[in-house]
Amino acid sequence: MKYAIIAATGHLGQAVIKDLLEERGVAPEEIVAIVRNREKAERVLPKGIGIREAKLRETEKLKAALDGIDKVLFISIQPGVGYHRAELQAKAVEALAQAKVKQVIFTSYAHVETAASPIAYDFLFTENAFKFSGLDYVLVRTNEYLENVASFIHQGASTGEFAYCAGEAKVGWALEREYAEGLSKILLADHPQKIYEFGGQPHSFADLAAAISQVSGQPVTAHNLGGQAYLEYLQKKVGLSYHQADLLLEKISPEAAGDMEYDDHDLEKILGHKLTPFTQAVGEVLTENY
Ligand SMILES: NC(=O)c1ccc[n+]([C@@H]2O[C@H](COP(=O)([O-])OP(=O)(O)OC[C@H]3O[C@@H](n4cnc5c(N)ncnc54)[C@H](OP(=O)(O)O)[C@@H]3O)[C@@H](O)[C@H]2O)c1
Repeated sequence: MKYAIIAATGHLGQAVIKDLLEERGVAPEEIVAIVRNREKAERVLPKGIGIREAKLRETEKLKAALDGIDKVLFISIQPGVGYHRAELQAKAVEALAQAKVKQVIFTSYAHVETAASPIAYDFLFTENAFKFSGLDYVLVRTNEYLENVASFIHQGASTGEFAYCAGEAKVGWALEREYAEGLSKILLADHPQKIYEFGGQPHSFADLAAAISQVSGQPVTAHNLGGQAYLEYLQKKVGLSYHQADLLLEKISPEAAGDMEYDDHDLEKILGHKLTPFTQAVGEVLTENY
C-alpha cells in the first residue's frame, strides 16, 4: 500500500508521519510526502520516505505526484495572502479525482454544516468539491488543537494572566499529536466511517486558566475583553501586527469558539484509549515549548 500526505511539512503532517512510522509500523517506502517546498521537506521530514513536489493549483504536476498512490491524507492548508484557500483545495480535489486514487481523507472543520464562523466557509466549499468529485472520501472534522492556544498557556504561566475574547464559550481541545494518531489510524483502516467529528471534552477559557494555574503553581486569571479591546490588546501588549491580531481574533472569536462546543467522541473511539486529561495536556504544551 502506498500512502500520500498533502501538506506534510506542517505540524500535523509531521506528527502523522511520525505516528505512521514509529507507532503503526508503516515502512518509509510506503509513505510519500507531497510538498510545495522540497528543501523544507528534506529538512523537516524523516529520511527514507518519498518526497514529491507539487503545488495544489498545478493539476498535471499534482496528478504525476499521485502516480501509484492508493490512499491520500489531504491536510487542509492555512489561509494566506495572495491565494484563496477554498479554490486551491477544490483544485486539488479535481487532480485527486483525475489521478483516480482509491481513497482521500480530508481534515475539515467541526460540524461544518452548522458552523457560524466565516473560517468554516473554506471547509464547507472543499467538502462540496468532494461530494461532486466521484472520489471515495472520508471527512475528518476537527475541533481545535490545544496548541492553538499555546501562547495563552505560556503567557498565563509566566505572568499569571492572559486575555481572550470568547466569553463563556467552551472548546473541545485535544492535543495535535492525538489528532495525528487518529488520522493515521483512519488512513490505515479498511472500512472507515464517512464522517468523523474529532475533539476532546469541551472546556472554557476559565477552565484553561485553572489548568495553567495547576501546572504552573501560581494563580492565573483569564480576562475576557470585547473584540475591539482585544484587537488593541494584541497589538499594544502582545506586539502583533494588525494582520496577525485580526487573524488570531478570527480564530478565537466568540463565534469560532462557539463552533467548538461539541462533546464528540469519535477521536477517543478511533484511538481506542482515553485522551490525555486536560490539565496534563496543558502541561504538555507548556513543557514542549510549542
Ligand atoms: N483545528 C484547529 O485548531 C486547527 C489549528 C491550526 C490549523 N488547523 C488546520 O489544520 C491544518 C494543519 O495544521 P498545522 O498545524 O499542520 O499547520 P501548519 O504547521 O501551519 O502547516 C500547514 C501546512 O500546509 C502547507 N500549506 C500552507 N499553505 C499552502 C499552500 N498555499 N499550498 C500548499 N500547501 C500549503 C504548509 O506548507 P509549507 O510547509 O511549505 O509552508 C504546511 O505543510 C492547517 O493548515 C489548518 O487548515 C486547524
